Amino acid sequence: MWFTVFLVGMLLFSCVALFVVTSAFLGFLQTRVPFVPTSRKDVEFVVKKLALGPKDVFIDLGSGDGRVCFLVEQACGAQTVGYEMTWWTHLLAKIKARLKHSRSRFYCRNFFHEDWSGANVVYGYLYPPLMRQVEEKFKADCRPGTFAVIRDFPFPSLKPMEVVYRPGGHEIYIYLK
Ligand SMILES: C[S@@+](CC[C@H](N)C(=O)[O-])C[C@H]1O[C@@H](n2cnc3c(N)ncnc32)[C@H](O)[C@@H]1O
Repeated sequence: MWFTVFLVGMLLFSCVALFVVTSAFLGFLQTRVPFVPTSRKDVEFVVKKLALGPKDVFIDLGSGDGRVCFLVEQACGAQTVGYEMTWWTHLLAKIKARLKHSRSRFYCRNFFHEDWSGANVVYGYLYPPLMRQVEEKFKADCRPGTFAVIRDFPFPSLKPMEVVYRPGGHEIYIYLK
């Protein structure tokens, strides 16, 4: 009996591990950006800095496990949307949203194929090779008055309104369209 329980447990664990490893690998092949989370303090800093509130619409470009959206929603009540292409982090975000009774919406989609014009804040913690395309889309899609908040890897051309140096050697670039 115990041996069967052990075997079933091991089988389940192996399936979950296989799913996580495979989807992380495929996600990385598609996006070339690994999942690395933003710190809670940096998210709280952004909420305070931009004085975000319930009327704001915040998009996380590459939302990972959803933590940025959850923290923003929790801190100020803004509407939050996350786009993520890696299955396991996306699934984790969806499960966490259910458990937390969060209003955050998560989509397993390529954010370059989505319309960003509904947001007044777009956030990205991405990687240098993507930043030109992200900048172009920010300029093309977003309405005047929209902020782009970019962690560590800035847009190649647009001048930031402000650069904030954060503990741990991180930088937050704030752009205003
Ligand atoms: C460094 S992680 C940041 C996660 C989260 N935003 C945070 O700050 O905690 C970047 C995430 O962006 C995702 N990503 C990269 N390019 C993407 C794209 N074009 N569409 C959707 N997700 C993308 C990656 O899969 C990865 O999980």
